[in-house]
Amino acid sequence: MTDPSALRRQLAAAVPAVDPAWRTALETVPRELFIRDGLFQFDGRQWTPVHRDQTNPGKWLGLVYQDITWVTQVDGTTAADAAGPVTGHPTSSSTLPSLIVRMLDLAQIREGDKVLEIGTGTGYSTAILSSRLGDKNVYSIEYDPGLAAAAADHIHAAGYQPTLITGDGLAGHKDGAEYDHIVATCAVRHIPPAWLYQVRDGGTITTTISGWMLASGLVRLTVHDDGTATGRFHTDQISYMLARPHERPPRPTFHQHPGTTRPTRVNPALLEDWTGQFLAQLAAPSAELVTTGTGVVLVDTATGSQAWTEPAGDGWTVHQHGPLNLWDQVEDALTTWQSAGSPAQTGFGLTVEPDGTQRVWMSAPDGPSWDLPV
Ligand SMILES: C[S@@+](CC[C@H](N)C(=O)[O-])C[C@H]1O[C@@H](n2cnc3c(N)ncnc32)[C@H](O)[C@@H]1O
Repeated sequence: MTDPSALRRQLAAAVPAVDPAWRTALETVPRELFIRDGLFQFDGRQWTPVHRDQTNPGKWLGLVYQDITWVTQVDGTTAADAAGPVTGHPTSSSTLPSLIVRMLDLAQIREGDKVLEIGTGTGYSTAILSSRLGDKNVYSIEYDPGLAAAAADHIHAAGYQPTLITGDGLAGHKDGAEYDHIVATCAVRHIPPAWLYQVRDGGTITTTISGWMLASGLVRLTVHDDGTATGRFHTDQISYMLARPHERPPRPTFHQHPGTTRPTRVNPALLEDWTGQFLAQLAAPSAELVTTGTGVVLVDTATGSQAWTEPAGDGWTVHQHGPLNLWDQVEDALTTWQSAGSPAQTGFGLTVEPDGTQRVWMSAPDGPSWDLPV
């Protein structure tokens, strides 16, 4: 099929229950103007660029309108500029359309609301917002100047004129404040204080909370007039790339150290579970997680502490080395979770206190909790 409007209708029709106005926005905004010249395809090892001008037009449109996230930049190289396959980590993408509208729906955005988006990327989600709310109600910030310039071209070509800012979205944009909603399409390790000040009382912040284990949780917070913000995690299992200033620092090559050993009390495979991994990240926020065929490796980026597990008889042994007992921290959190019946992520919430403390709690605001690294 080469009719983009038919592909847009098909895309919009396939989105599960959301406010019909978002479906209309999907039918209206031409995604091909945002993924304009290239995208990357991943084969598990490397990223291969697909260039529009070297692809059959029908096939190209078919790719553009798939409801998937297309990576458009890897470690600063855009797909359009890549002459051949590259390795590295995605640094920008066009988020899958159904997720964009699910997040905007979760944020409870309505006509007349003023929204600040963090992470313009290709500009597609910004245009979706403009299409429903009108240009004057939409602000969007992109960190990468090259991407910001390209996004501005894309958005203008589609006929929209929202306020576009190049800079660090973690500082928000105070000239446009107060906003009814802030929505982030990059993940954060904690809620940046500027967002709390720039959202009106009763407004919302919708973002994914992630960290250096790359575990993720989607949360919608309501900002209250007493300086607190509260909300629960959502059922959607989605992850975004970390906001650039929150990215994991590089760590030295890992050399296994025997350390002190003991049997584990929980199965290390729990760290492969969506919620189990999220808890591990809460319990050891500066640690990186590597899962191997036979166990897990935790390496603390701040102190070099390490913990690694290996099968032993019917169970597992853990080796811990360095100033932090990473496995003890993680295991305590996992056993607390198990004793509560291993609730899913929807059983967790986040409270931001006026003094800046940010607590992820389980079951109830006064239940077991873990502080986010602020
Ligand atoms: C998943 S992409 C955004 C997708 C975009 N909403 C779209 O529909 O194309 C995440 C974007 O966030 C940007 N980003 C990362 N850290 C940022 C920050 N601190 N402030 C603003 N943008 C940031 C990245 O450069 C990247 O373009």
